[in-house]
Amino acid sequence: MDVKTPNLSETAMRPVGLIIRQKDPNNLEMPFDQLDDFITPSELFYIRSHFPAPELNPVTYRLSIRGAVRRELSLSYADVRAMPSRTCVATLECAGNSRVFLVPPAPGAQWELGAVGNAEWTGVPLSVLLERAGLADEACELVLEGADRGVPKEEPKPPGTISYARSIPRKRALESDVLIAYSMNGQDLTLDHGYPLRAIVPGHYGMASVKWLTDIIATTQPFQGYWQTSDYGYWDDSAGTPVRRPLAEMKLKAQIARPRVYETLEPGRSYTIFGAAWAGDTVVTEIWVSVDGGASWVHGDFLDPINRHAWRRWKYDWITPTQPGRYTLLARAKGADQSLQPDSHNSNFGSYVIDHPLPIEVFVTEPSSAATARM
Ligand code: MTE
Repeated sequence: MDVKTPNLSETAMRPVGLIIRQKDPNNLEMPFDQLDDFITPSELFYIRSHFPAPELNPVTYRLSIRGAVRRELSLSYADVRAMPSRTCVATLECAGNSRVFLVPPAPGAQWELGAVGNAEWTGVPLSVLLERAGLADEACELVLEGADRGVPKEEPKPPGTISYARSIPRKRALESDVLIAYSMNGQDLTLDHGYPLRAIVPGHYGMASVKWLTDIIATTQPFQGYWQTSDYGYWDDSAGTPVRRPLAEMKLKAQIARPRVYETLEPGRSYTIFGAAWAGDTVVTEIWVSVDGGASWVHGDFLDPINRHAWRRWKYDWITPTQPGRYTLLARAKGADQSLQPDSHNSNFGSYVIDHPLPIEVFVTEPSSAATARM
């Protein structure tokens, strides 16, 4: 895939490390103004872990596939690596990304814009494993369980320690792009990103892509575990009475990478506003930019073709105003299904799914004396 573009900004730099949102366990985000390439370099890719990363020995490691299957499997790391593989590019966004934009502030890690990244993942399609195990007709979900354990933070908490486990519906699990991945951007997974094996569920918020995967359990009832109900759930009131449902597909979203919040810009100059947009259950087909706080909108241009479940970088060539002052920039994506990002955050999602256009305030300065002298 030809995805390289030239550097888009004079300020573009090489990876400079991550921002700490929590020290232990590691919760680190990408400085989003470092966005440059289509593929996020692994060293810039955010890390979101609820418990300390478990160090699994690839020699003794086993992946168990059990529950509603005809043949239970116990596979070694070498067994999985020897199976037919597939590579796909997928954007992972943490469901709490951009939480810092919520007013009033919401509890949880105060992610800015960088709990999102786009990587190339290689692994065995989950469907291949389920085929070998003989998934029973009555199985409705696949629970993916990691080796990490601890006491979760948010109420209501279960008694004692639990592992990190999420389920995906049978239909999604059988689609060939759901991977049991061992490689990220052409290298073995790092410990923080789930070594030796992790799930990748393209199009779903990152919480579905279980790291340090040890167990795949086919169930005949919907899974009601902590990370499916208490955490990473939302209130669905579409049928009147609100019911609790697990978060799943990423919502349509666009983010501005440059300029940064409170960046100062020279008046009357060309400046390329640059960002990325993605979606879970549609594809992004239009990008709109506002430089006046949403009073008016103009079309931006995409730099990447449509590639389902991968983000599209975009740009808008702006001539900064000659009038010094404070300006609010916004970006808004539109999907192939005609959906548009909402005006504001939907409180049914609690402190998750922050998918409204995020204001980036910048200052246009007085003309510098050098610029004035040139006039
Ligand atoms: N898997 C396990 N076992 N434990 C975790 O804490 N965090 C999830 C998911 N998989 C998590 C996990 C969440 S909330 C996100 S957003 C993604 O991993 C982040 O993946 P990354 O750290 O590789 O970016």
